Amino acid sequence: MRAFEFPDVEEDEIGRLGDDLSALGERFEAALASVDDGDALDALRLTFLGRNGEITALRRSIGTLPAAERPEAGKTINEAVARLEAQLERASSALTNRELAAQLDVAIDVTFPAPPARTGSIHPLRRTLEDACDYFQRRGFAVVLGDEIETEYYNFDALNIPADHPAREGFDTFYLANGKLLRPHTSPTQIRTMQQHPPPIAIVNPGKAYRRDAVDARHSYMFSQIEGLLVAPGIHLGHLKGMLTGLCRELFGPNQAVRFRPSFFPFTEPSAEVDTTCPGCGGSGKRGDAGCKTCGGSGWIEIGGSGMVHPDVLRECNYDPERVSGWAFGLGVERIAMVRYDVDDLRVFFENDPAVLAQLA
Ligand code: PHE
Repeated sequence: MRAFEFPDVEEDEIGRLGDDLSALGERFEAALASVDDGDALDALRLTFLGRNGEITALRRSIGTLPAAERPEAGKTINEAVARLEAQLERASSALTNRELAAQLDVAIDVTFPAPPARTGSIHPLRRTLEDACDYFQRRGFAVVLGDEIETEYYNFDALNIPADHPAREGFDTFYLANGKLLRPHTSPTQIRTMQQHPPPIAIVNPGKAYRRDAVDARHSYMFSQIEGLLVAPGIHLGHLKGMLTGLCRELFGPNQAVRFRPSFFPFTEPSAEVDTTCPGCGGSGKRGDAGCKTCGGSGWIEIGGSGMVHPDVLRECNYDPERVSGWAFGLGVERIAMVRYDVDDLRVFFENDPAVLAQLA
């Protein structure tokens, strides 16, 4: 009796699948040849490779094959899919290139006027700082930059503010976890500079300072100061007044005056607040019939503090107060810029709205 022989279907079925796939490949290529835009390409992709496309139908038919042949059949289909996808990819980039070339082909009128170039502007705070530094540099002062993170020694002790001194409270200081602090004024740079350089000394130090202040139209936890320091034999308060008057004339206009109001700072003696003529009303305190809003009707604007460097501070820096004397000042840059640019809210300087800054440029 003859043993039952299974028909040798393997060759046949795989062979048939191969035929089907090459027929499909030819139809695909024919269709691809007539594709001339992205939509048609997408439609073609769906017809052949989509979820209900021809390849999916072929894949489903794998299930009817004997189990042993299915892996081989799956592989054959995957290879065909890879070929189709590669062709689609090539066709797609060819289409993109053609579209770009078409765009470039449009006549370009090189004489057409370009839109005006948009340039930035120097920030009003920076401009004020730079103008002030420039004024002092032309008079032989050096510009030095200090660190915004300072130690209690440079910020307080060396400036004649011992630990139990009430003036420490006046500087609402941010303390850092490492025992250092965010400087509440630029004065520590005086100490650092004098300890590194013997007299005579003439510096200005622009920079940021920080205080625990709530933000409103006139206050911010971050602000800028410009510190000045001049120490040499025979320096007196008159030099300071002359220098600050010159600065205010340069920043605000030729008719500015400066006045000192007695004040107190532990690191200067005597000490004075610095006022300058209100540029809003020219010092009259009036605008039209109303009181001047910029100065509150006083005719003066306060711009900072100043004084003669305290002998203890000089000694702390190994300067001999018998041989040299000096003055120092610390001016509020936002305050100066507000008056200079007629801005009544300093938040404008930090919000940085380009439209506003362009107006102040
Ligand atoms: N450091 C002082 C302040 O921030 C200002 C000042 C500087 C006063 C230098 C006198 C001399 O208030």
